[in-house]
Amino acid sequence: MRLLLLGFIPFALYAIFNHLFYTWLPTNYRFDKKVLQDLVQDTLQNHPDGNATAIMIELAPKIQKEYPGIINDLNFDDWFYNNAGGAMGMMFILHASISEYLIFFGTAVGTEGHTGVHFADDYFTILTGEQRAAYPGSLVPEVYKPGDQHHLQKGHIKQYGMPGESFALELAQGWIPAMLPFGLMDTLSSTMDFHTFYLTSYFTARDMIKNLLNGKF
Ligand SMILES: *[C@@H]1O[C@H](CO)[C@@H](O)[C@H](O)[C@H]1NC(C)=O
Repeated sequence: MRLLLLGFIPFALYAIFNHLFYTWLPTNYRFDKKVLQDLVQDTLQNHPDGNATAIMIELAPKIQKEYPGIINDLNFDDWFYNNAGGAMGMMFILHASISEYLIFFGTAVGTEGHTGVHFADDYFTILTGEQRAAYPGSLVPEVYKPGDQHHLQKGHIKQYGMPGESFALELAQGWIPAMLPFGLMDTLSSTMDFHTFYLTSYFTARDMIKNLLNGKF
């Protein structure tokens, strides 16, 4: 009987977090996917050549102006790798809190893998290059070009790929700590790159704590 009750705990916790996802959690969201996409499209008009560096250098301050106090200064020394779902890319954290993150993500080399199963909605706005994605059974990929926004719904899974020199602005809204195991597991089970593990943990925790202390959950 006691074992039966213990076995019930994960389901009860899931039900509670799932309920909060649709009720209380969104009251903590600050970012608006449409505003971010508008800022991206506005910026892209000045960069028909698709220079990722120049796009980010112009875009990051615009996002800071729109969301004062919660966006990090863009700094190319603070980029780090991300290995997850068999894909490898690089990222820079603009913002991380318990309910949201906003990052630059992409790859100079090209990559392909599994999106992961997330307790969050993910909005992936292409800056340069492209992203392809497909559900099982979709024999033709969805193709996202600069300015397009790919919405990966909570709990949905796709295979995705990005050719070399593709970069995006990625917003995730949901239970961000629940996404971290996916973001770190490939390091522990495959790459053994503990420096990257440290950088990921450090930059994520630093932002989450800083924002929490400022009242941003
Ligand atoms: C891209 O933009 C950066 C920053 O403005 C600049 O330093 C670099 O030379 C540009 N690259 C090309 C290929 O134009």
